Amino acid sequence: MQDPLILINKQYIKKSLADKDINIDVFESIDSTNDYLKSFYNSASPRICIAEQQTKGKGRLHRDWYSPFGKNIYLSCLYSFQRDVSEAAGLSLVISLAIIKTLKTYNLPKSVLVKWPNDVIYQAKKLSGNLIELQAEFHGTCCAVIGIGINVNMLFSENHQISQPWISLREITGDYIDRNLLLAALINNLFIYLKRFEKNGLSVFTDEWSKVDYLAGQNITLKGVTNKIVGTVKGIDQQGHLLIKLKEGILRSFSSGDTEIMKK
Ligand code: BTN
Repeated sequence: MQDPLILINKQYIKKSLADKDINIDVFESIDSTNDYLKSFYNSASPRICIAEQQTKGKGRLHRDWYSPFGKNIYLSCLYSFQRDVSEAAGLSLVISLAIIKTLKTYNLPKSVLVKWPNDVIYQAKKLSGNLIELQAEFHGTCCAVIGIGINVNMLFSENHQISQPWISLREITGDYIDRNLLLAALINNLFIYLKRFEKNGLSVFTDEWSKVDYLAGQNITLKGVTNKIVGTVKGIDQQGHLLIKLKEGILRSFSSGDTEIMKK
């Protein structure tokens, strides 16, 4: 039997939000929800953009983000912080935690985890990712466009062309998901987590992080733009950088890169 197609309903989402002052734009099709919100940098009020489809969806490290019509969540959020740009690395982790918190309401297995810095994964397959773009002044305001992609109703049998191993909520739970309920819960959680991060920084999230940290204790390779590092993951530091114990026994922190668990 064919899936129903429940489209995104702006009125329903607006009604379900705890904060009624958030501006929401919903598009049938757009190049990238992140790029759209970048035209509102400098605006003090928070703003959400959601699309049914993206024609130029962007992932981390200049990858594309596959964004077919009506299947998934493509959402961006504009948020201005009174925090220094040096703390922004933690933001990506906090967003991943807000996503996990939201997804857990679908009774997902415990093994839905976060792979530093931004991948929500299940059985080594990607369920969600986030891309944060910033406009910041040193020692001043930091305006973030936070882009979230969640694989919701895509099915393996539909033959989607995605280069990385992926999974969707539908594939995990077996149920068609109404994205409106998920979007409303996601936006509400997002603002709870953003406000808490703005007030307290990353330190209040480290316990929560350690419970869902996919890489903790694993031997990994970290690929940067020019180099490749091998070592054992020892969690994150106060800024949200990845702590790796190198072969020589030295503990070093890394702010970016692509991680892969080494085969035993
Ligand atoms: C990643 O894991 O590589 C990050 C993926 C981020 C995708 C989202 S979809 C909504 C927003 N708009 C974009 O163009 N990208 C982000």
